[in-house]
Amino acid sequence: MTGSDRGKNQARASAESTAALSNGLGARGLADSHGPGASPPDSRRVHDPSAEGPLSLRRQDGALIISIEREDRRNSLSLSTLEAFGNVFRYHLAPDDRAVIVTGSGARAFCAGADLKERKDMSLDEVRAQLVRYRTDLAWLSTCPVPTIAAINGAALGGGLELALLCDLRIAAPHASFALPETSLGIIPAAGGTQYLPRIVGAAKARELILLGTRLSAAEALRIGLIHRICDAEVSVLDDTLAWITPITRGAPLAQHAALRALRAADRLDIDAGLEFELSCYEECLVSEDRVEALNAFAEKREPVFKGK
Ligand code: COA
Repeated sequence: MTGSDRGKNQARASAESTAALSNGLGARGLADSHGPGASPPDSRRVHDPSAEGPLSLRRQDGALIISIEREDRRNSLSLSTLEAFGNVFRYHLAPDDRAVIVTGSGARAFCAGADLKERKDMSLDEVRAQLVRYRTDLAWLSTCPVPTIAAINGAALGGGLELALLCDLRIAAPHASFALPETSLGIIPAAGGTQYLPRIVGAAKARELILLGTRLSAAEALRIGLIHRICDAEVSVLDDTLAWITPITRGAPLAQHAALRALRAADRLDIDAGLEFELSCYEECLVSEDRVEALNAFAEKREPVFKGK
């Protein structure tokens, strides 16, 4: 990508963000109070439902599957890849998506972090602008109204691991590996890594992983709680993920949403405020038709049919 292409991309992205913010409302009902830069779909732009820049998009078993298709650069995050992630939230997330799965193409890498070849030619201001994009175009994964899952098909390094940390759940192939090697590159993990990692694996382990840049196997990552599950070697990580999250994709939508909000609030609120917030989330479920349906289904010894109402 030339400097001038990058400039045009940034100008377009910035215009889109501004439009998104001035539009105010979220792309979908549940998203209203959540995603950064949430906006209704822009009818002037036509978005291919199966692709967004270097990302492929498809739906299966109630999940929107986002795959980074940059195998030749080990699915690293270029500026256009970040922009494409933002566009997925703005234009592609649909009301009946029950989960969002992020994965990478090929078996070598989930995501090798920032595109270091692209970054080599960037000015300081361009690098700064790119960092902002991590916090806007990627960060919606941590506030998405439905659970987000990283299906880690290979190495998750630097920004690639930070991408996985933004997700609610992480499942890995047995050969996957994990590291935040930024300090060896003269920088720090600044796409949320220094903040999310201690919350997930604890302060002591996060210090080790960030200061030493230690590389972990999938088994070690599972042991310290960095990932939730290693998939069966016989099954693709994506198939394993889809099967594992069935309770999410078939569960009660409002309850899933309320539980997510309460869980995420636990990272930000003290215990008293958190308990108050939990009650307000419970109240949303209490008045739902799905709660009554679950009680009726239990009494009638049948599976509930949830409507998200
Ligand atoms: N940015 C841009 N290109 C990258 C890249 C990145 N982050 N990571 C890998 N690539 C490119 C390589 O330059 C190489 O390109 P080439 O074929 O033109 O030489 C190609 O992807 C394949 O890389 P290679 O190292 O041969 O693949 P591998 O499967 O043996 O190893 C990794 C994969 C991800 C383990 C390894 O590429 C790696 O360690 N990458 C660096 C990741 C990193 O330090 N990220 C931190 C960013 S803060």
